[in-house]
Amino acid sequence: MDSLTFHLAQTDDYQEIVKLSEGIYEGHDYLPLKFSDWLQRENLHIVLPYFGSQLVGLQAYFVVDEGRTFIRRASRMHPNFRGQGLIRPLREFMAKHAKSHYPCVQRERFTTNYENVNCTDQTKLYESKVDAFNVDKEKCTQITEGKINFNIMVDIQQCPRKHFSDILSAPLMYGLFPNNVIVVNSCPFAPLQSNIDYILQETDEIFVEKCANTFPKSISFGTFSPRLKFLHWLVSVYSDDLNLYEAHLRYQFRHACGVIRNDFVFVSFHDKSLSPLVKKLMEEELQLQVCEYYKNKTMKLYETKCTP
Ligand SMILES: CC(C)(COP(=O)(O)OP(=O)(O)OC[C@H]1O[C@@H](n2cnc3c(N)ncnc32)[C@H](O)[C@@H]1OP(=O)(O)O)[C@@H](O)C(=O)NCCC(=O)NCCS
Repeated sequence: MDSLTFHLAQTDDYQEIVKLSEGIYEGHDYLPLKFSDWLQRENLHIVLPYFGSQLVGLQAYFVVDEGRTFIRRASRMHPNFRGQGLIRPLREFMAKHAKSHYPCVQRERFTTNYENVNCTDQTKLYESKVDAFNVDKEKCTQITEGKINFNIMVDIQQCPRKHFSDILSAPLMYGLFPNNVIVVNSCPFAPLQSNIDYILQETDEIFVEKCANTFPKSISFGTFSPRLKFLHWLVSVYSDDLNLYEAHLRYQFRHACGVIRNDFVFVSFHDKSLSPLVKKLMEEELQLQVCEYYKNKTMKLYETKCTP
């Protein structure tokens, strides 16, 4: 049998990437829609493993935290080649590539909703509950036209880039982020000013509570994420204050309805203690159905220290 060879993806690999994505995540895969954008990013690399001329998988990574972290994302193995241990050499090639091109790299991080990650190699840093709800176009219209009484108890406002930069420059703010990590669009970032552009590539909106001349006590990130057969709005809210937390969630929901104006899936990533609050709002007040695909899923963040 041929041994695996590895190539970096190029524009004309697109059709093969689309084929590889077929059947993945029941239509919730984002990769074919992100592929062209990812190829333009200077710190993101997509590795393709081949048996002879057959593409058998894919593994992307990108480098953040001033070159100290590489984030593994979008692992794929063709269904005919799963369970044969091929993902390991692919990931080893990726790690070698990262270390040789980014000499400051100290750690690998990734998020997954998979339950059986091998923890002899990696440490779990964080786990958040994922609650997702189907929103239909009619509900969007009712919310945007104010036909549903939907109170937001605290003033929430957009956080411009400059304000976000100030927040990241204040070490006192870091307490907002568990483990000193901001997870946006399933990508973990250290709260560093140097990450701003990378964070803004992964999110569409940042919100904070209105506060005159002081640093906010809450911040949230909202990402519009089109998938093969669905549209998603992904939300992560950072706050220790339940009222602020709820205000962000409501604001994000109203904002997503206004932006998308179509059927979509509202996906919230939060500590499991907040699940009852999220469900009360989404299921009882807004009468939304749970999205089956995300039922009982959690998002885990893992880290592996790099050896030279
Ligand atoms: C995830 C996927 C790439 C794994 O490939 P595979 O050939 O089935 O992998 P194996 O079952 O041989 O497992 C190999 C290793 O990957 C780990 N693994 C398997 N699925 C994983 C997942 N979803 N996330 C993280 N690790 C995973 C296993 O624990 C195992 O670890 P070890 O080698 O350290 O023991 C493949 O199942 C796939 O393409 N699935 C659909 C897409 C997907 O779920 N991607 C994952 C996250 S983006």
